[in-house]
Amino acid sequence: MGEILFSMVPETVEKVETEYRRIVTPIPVPESLPLIETLQQYEPLSMRGQPLVVWDRAEGVNVYDPFGNKWLDMSSGVLVANVGHGRIEVRNAMMDQLEKPLLHNYLFPSAVRADLVKKLAEVAPAGLNKVLLLTTGSEAIECALKLARTWGLKKGGKKKNILIAFENAFHGRTLGTQSVGGFPELKEWIVNPDPDIYHVPFPSDFRCEDRSFALFEKTLQTRGIDPDDVAGVISETYQGGSAGFFPETYARTLRTWCDDHGALLIFDEVQSSFGRTGKFFAFEHYGITPDIIACGKGISSCMPLSAVIAGPEIMDMYGPGSMTSTHTGNPVCCAAALATIRLLLDDGLLENAAVVGQRLGNELEKLKHDYPGIIGALHGRGMVYGIHIVKPGSMEPDGELTHRIVDRAVKRGLMLFAPVGTGGATIKICPPLMLDAAGVDDAVLAIREAFAYETNRGG
Ligand SMILES: Cc1ncc(COP(=O)(O)O)c(C=O)c1O
Repeated sequence: MGEILFSMVPETVEKVETEYRRIVTPIPVPESLPLIETLQQYEPLSMRGQPLVVWDRAEGVNVYDPFGNKWLDMSSGVLVANVGHGRIEVRNAMMDQLEKPLLHNYLFPSAVRADLVKKLAEVAPAGLNKVLLLTTGSEAIECALKLARTWGLKKGGKKKNILIAFENAFHGRTLGTQSVGGFPELKEWIVNPDPDIYHVPFPSDFRCEDRSFALFEKTLQTRGIDPDDVAGVISETYQGGSAGFFPETYARTLRTWCDDHGALLIFDEVQSSFGRTGKFFAFEHYGITPDIIACGKGISSCMPLSAVIAGPEIMDMYGPGSMTSTHTGNPVCCAAALATIRLLLDDGLLENAAVVGQRLGNELEKLKHDYPGIIGALHGRGMVYGIHIVKPGSMEPDGELTHRIVDRAVKRGLMLFAPVGTGGATIKICPPLMLDAAGVDDAVLAIREAFAYETNRGG
């Protein structure tokens, strides 16, 4: 993500004024450059790469800078603000904790942590009724991997240590999460990779021709893996880099395969849960239940909180004090998460994500139809889509054009993060779940304007 940088040179752009968007200055805003330069001076290079817009205030589906511009948000930050930015219900819940005050609780009992773990166990499938609260998505994945390997050790001894993950998977940027991550270029730094982690092709990337489960088994066979030595299989429920889902039959067969070989199925729901796809958890689309769910991002719609959810046989393998974290279940984060879940369920946001998301998907399909040979594929469901840009008539990613389209859309008042996925050629569309139909139409209008401008200019 973000190898091509957005230009620091302000461009005078056509003014934009719709119900959802307002652009009244050059972009980037000249007055914002000193602030951006301060960040560049004091933060590592790795923090660059996003559009050069100063986020000053964000409410509902909008992000505002301090210079009079307003964006319609298609990023949800980074798929975090599921119930919308800055919702008063979330702020009030956090304020109650701030005013008590109870700002920290570690493992000491607190009412708000009790309420949240109970709520999460209630919304999770039956049997997955133990919840460990952590802070980041990566931390939840690390914990899930530890649980899977501990399970393997317990059930099959040291040789039942193998973890199977998927090519093009993203699970975070720490040692364990990048070891199971499926982008080789992101993990060269590991140098001596874990010899018991293997990757198989993900079956719904549009470049993967064989989408049958047979490819999974064949890949293991080619690598000489005894299926009974597999401790766990981990996958994003849909891949974040592409917004590609498993074919349903593949997912169901994978579930059965894990059962047959005593391997734990871990779904990384860090990005895909809390309504993003129109269901509470994305695996509900497959009609199966994993053994371990890892959540993060949208769980609180704003605060750093994550969770691992599984049954007691898995979650109680570690004794008192031996699977914890300093900031586990921070009270302010818990309050935000409880308010988020209440909004998701009481405001009908899951239904809205399904219904309005369908309209979004339909409109993006029409866009794809209008740009044959440039949009290689459109993946997604509910309120998450990946538009895959290719070099004309090929499968080769066109990262440069993708970047220009994102830049142009931002200059038309649509908030997008930098392109993701293979070759940095996927435009991710992932608005807050409260977006309405008129908002979809306005967003698609801006995307169309960006496509028209950049494809004409590119000849
Ligand atoms: C699917 C998935 N898993 C894990 C992570 C890592 O989460 P975090 O950045 O909170 O550590 C991300 C973050 O983008 C993600 O999208």
